[in-house]
Amino acid sequence: MDMKVVPVREGNYNLKDYEKLRENFSWDDMKKYFSWDTTGKVNMAYEALDRHAEDSEKKNKIALIYSDPYREEKVTFKDLSKASNRFANILKDYGVEKGDRVFLFMPRSPEFYTAFFGILKVAAVAGPLFEAFMEQAVRDRLQDSEAKILITTPELLKRVPQENLPNLEKIVIVGDHIDDSDKYIDYYKEMEEASDEFDIEWVDLEDGMLLHYTSGSTGKPKGVYHVHHAMIQHYATGEWVLDLKEDDTYWCTADPGWVTGTSYGIFAPWLHGVTNVVRGGRFTPEDWYNTLEKYEVSVWYTAPTALRLLVSHGEEKVSNYNLSSLRHIMSVGEPLNPEVVTWGLKAFNLRIHDTWWMTETGAQLIVNLPSLEIRPGSMGKPIPGIEATIIDNEGNELPPNQMGNLAIKEGWPAMMRKIWNNPSKYESYFMNGWYVSGDSAYKDEDGYFWFQGRLDDVINTSGERVGPFEVESKLIEHKAVAEAGVIGKPHPERGEIIKAFITLNEGYEETPELLEDIRTFVKTGLSAHAAPREIEVKDSIPKTRSGKIMRRLLKSWELGLPTGDTSTLEK
Ligand code: WTA
Repeated sequence: MDMKVVPVREGNYNLKDYEKLRENFSWDDMKKYFSWDTTGKVNMAYEALDRHAEDSEKKNKIALIYSDPYREEKVTFKDLSKASNRFANILKDYGVEKGDRVFLFMPRSPEFYTAFFGILKVAAVAGPLFEAFMEQAVRDRLQDSEAKILITTPELLKRVPQENLPNLEKIVIVGDHIDDSDKYIDYYKEMEEASDEFDIEWVDLEDGMLLHYTSGSTGKPKGVYHVHHAMIQHYATGEWVLDLKEDDTYWCTADPGWVTGTSYGIFAPWLHGVTNVVRGGRFTPEDWYNTLEKYEVSVWYTAPTALRLLVSHGEEKVSNYNLSSLRHIMSVGEPLNPEVVTWGLKAFNLRIHDTWWMTETGAQLIVNLPSLEIRPGSMGKPIPGIEATIIDNEGNELPPNQMGNLAIKEGWPAMMRKIWNNPSKYESYFMNGWYVSGDSAYKDEDGYFWFQGRLDDVINTSGERVGPFEVESKLIEHKAVAEAGVIGKPHPERGEIIKAFITLNEGYEETPELLEDIRTFVKTGLSAHAAPREIEVKDSIPKTRSGKIMRRLLKSWELGLPTGDTSTLEK
């Protein structure tokens, strides 16, 4: 196969002269696109929403098209701005102040976006949580962040812990809830009563905006803290990578509980003032194509796991729909298989552009730009303003084609500014002025980066990042489980699945029922995507002499690979 895919459609592609732009680029050049550059008044909610609502030509434009199987709603910039003013007033009345953490635990909905902007307008820090989380996952995050207010629905309230959350003052309920204790705030009632005028809190570029919890290989999930300054990069990548134009209808399939669903499901599209499609609920391939067709989506940002599902349903399906509006497709979250890129060319007559970044990086860093040649299987090249390289374990740069740690030169606008409550964890990301990603990759002679895998034990299942420690901790809470070691096992559609090795406590015997019970225990205690699809019972779990589970050895066993250096193995 010819690995050089040439653009199949001429568009308004930016960055034609990539090398030249990189050479001369400075992030400061982007400031002129923001009103604060002249007014000194900063707030993401203003740039992404109120600015359009104040613009007589934009205010009645559709900002949000929301749909799920039961509901369809179109909301203009003006209405979203007014509604979020109301919500900001509610938060202010209940004493929310700049820097306070306000969490959202609810499905995608117009109310979600209203509340989200309301939080930013009072200069509080928003913490969106996946609706799939179970009680333990919710508790860990609310405890660590010391959240003051939580916004949720009556259905999800069942999974909100009612104890040991001393900082949580109020719970806003979006929906019917019969409990008049003053701990609860009735969203619809108070929204009706609140004023739709609000004086937005101006902040500094470096003030906090967002807290996204994500998993590492050790410890509980950590709070990755982002600031308003990130908007510069959201805007820039919205132009260069998403290639957004005034008349685009854009659809990002990611949930806002994940960084893609905020950086590219909220900020980038609305900084550009385009119509943003949000689809709630679970989707079948028919739903995907229907959504693209019905709303005439032109720019689509999705994930390899979804694309692989579409591939498995065949190319013929695509021809049943009129997707003539679609002009640009991107992918993120896991390696994008070259076969999927090739399939995309046949099925959509379009290239699929891989993009690489992380919760910690806040925005895209290494991408396939619309203006550049695509090498299927490669993540592409760093955007202007980003210097990427491959380093060894001592922090020395490696020559082309050598595998090592993918690292980025410190200091870009969307970079996390801290790990909440954990300065040493934050420090551990950096070496010799490089941010070390934890991914292994190499760079070819032409500067394209090729992803090889994770260097730590973090699991990527269907694009969701899962920390083995969190799953192991839950497993050993089950009465039958003595020890547990958890790994990611390669899987053709899901990327990886979670496999657990366990030892049983005395008096328990391995039966299919017991294994199912253990699985369900994790699923209902933590979350569905964290539940191991495979569980294998062992006599012992390999550990180092210091008691650390040797997940790497478990993985080698599983894959039938050489076991390497086992000198630290406990005897
Ligand atoms: C993986 C996602 C290969 C990678 C925005 C990274 C990818 C982790 C790609 C971050 C890609 C993300 N190709 N792998 N294009 N994009 N990853 O924080 O291992 O949920 O470190 O953020 O996903 O996952 P996170």
